[in-house]
Amino acid sequence: MTKIATLEINGNKYEFPIIEGTQNEFGIDIKTLRGVTGGVTTLDPGFKNTGSCESAITFLDGEKGILRYRGYSIEELAEKADFLEVAYLLIFGELPTAVQLEKFDADIKEELHVDEDMKNILDGFPKSAHPMGVLSSLTNALIAFNPGSVDVASDDAMYRAIVKIMGKFPVLAAWTMRKRKGLPLDYGDSTLGYVENLHKMMFARPNRVYTKNKIVNDALDKLLILHADHEQNCSTSTVRIVGSSHAGLFASLSAGISALWGPLHGGANQAVIEMLEAIKADGGDTAKYIAKAKDKNDPFRLMGFGHRVYKNFDPRAKIIKVAAEEVLADLGMEDPVLDIAKGLAKVALEDEYFVKRKLYPNVDFYSGIIYRALGIPTEMFTVMFALGRLPGWIAQWREMRQRKEPIGRPRQIYIGEGYRPFVSVEKR
Ligand code: CMC
Repeated sequence: MTKIATLEINGNKYEFPIIEGTQNEFGIDIKTLRGVTGGVTTLDPGFKNTGSCESAITFLDGEKGILRYRGYSIEELAEKADFLEVAYLLIFGELPTAVQLEKFDADIKEELHVDEDMKNILDGFPKSAHPMGVLSSLTNALIAFNPGSVDVASDDAMYRAIVKIMGKFPVLAAWTMRKRKGLPLDYGDSTLGYVENLHKMMFARPNRVYTKNKIVNDALDKLLILHADHEQNCSTSTVRIVGSSHAGLFASLSAGISALWGPLHGGANQAVIEMLEAIKADGGDTAKYIAKAKDKNDPFRLMGFGHRVYKNFDPRAKIIKVAAEEVLADLGMEDPVLDIAKGLAKVALEDEYFVKRKLYPNVDFYSGIIYRALGIPTEMFTVMFALGRLPGWIAQWREMRQRKEPIGRPRQIYIGEGYRPFVSVEKR
């Protein structure tokens, strides 16, 4: 039986159907609200209570700390799958068979190059440019070298666009780092796996034979999987909303990269390490920084803490914390910043301010410690996030187009001046 929500405005009652997801989530379907009420709208800054779409890709329960891609738990995927399998799963809905996976891999490998002229664009950036800005620009620039928008009605055209960006994106990401370091650009090696090849493209030295390292590869694989999708977060919503105007896939991804860059979103992983380093340089006084985070007159926030949706724990943070310890042990490294992070988390998790607001370490809190152990420079951390999020963005963009969603165009409540006659400049 259809469940109904009743809304009363000035004595008039309106009924709206309540839709139910497959995991007992309920949403009031207000598609007809403005029509039946004569223009009443809703106000929900930051969309804290608003579902923007129905989606079959990622399920998360913030109260219980559950995250699943297409029904598979993040814990199992991080343990048993590799990144390319997860990418396929997210984009196409099912885990690939061995044959499908082999084809996906081979088709991506056919795209492991970008037009040499893209180097001219890269060269135009100063070495000091932040890699996220460069990556967003290069992703947009790819359109010029691959013109024509994707025919979303054609499975084949969609597939070609997907393997194209899956192949070229790691090349661009690696180049942003090499440019910064003054290293010659590397095109990788198509005999390597997807993640191994990414690592080679980032770290290969011109005068040395590249050797792969299983510990490093497994750690990277796990991090990419953990970042691969997170339903309607800021960057994904950006990708969907840009795509909803029928802008192409690469343009939508470029916008998503810009959204991810911000320190309240993916940029938090860089901000966390910078914060931990600052605390270390300041004598490791975690209590001082907890007090700063709680002080409403101080703009400081505990980076890597809190989440819009998780109000219990972030399952990704749990996995990453263990992985950070394992990776440091496997590589025979110690990082004093890990101890500061653990100390900070311990104090915060017992502090009333954080407990009351349900603020827990999020995915970004420990990931930077692993990236650092793998030799990845701090300013590349958010690029690593983007590399992981790529299949999620693609899957969400594809779903949005296949479901023929309308252009994203929220309403507002205008609070400005009423009509005023124009005053000429000499009379102002
Ligand atoms: N440090 C101190 N106080 C905090 C923090 C924090 N990190 N996060 C939230 N609060 C407080 C906030 O001041 C507010 O307090 P009050 O109710 O007294 O006004 C309350 O907790 C609720 O915060 P909010 O900003 O309304 O919550 P939100 O859902 O809008 O924001 C967030 C979520 C992730 C942007 C926020 O927690 C934050 O800024 N965290 C730090 C940045 C960060 O780690 N971002 C990564 C998020 S996970 C990965 C990703 O999405 O990319």
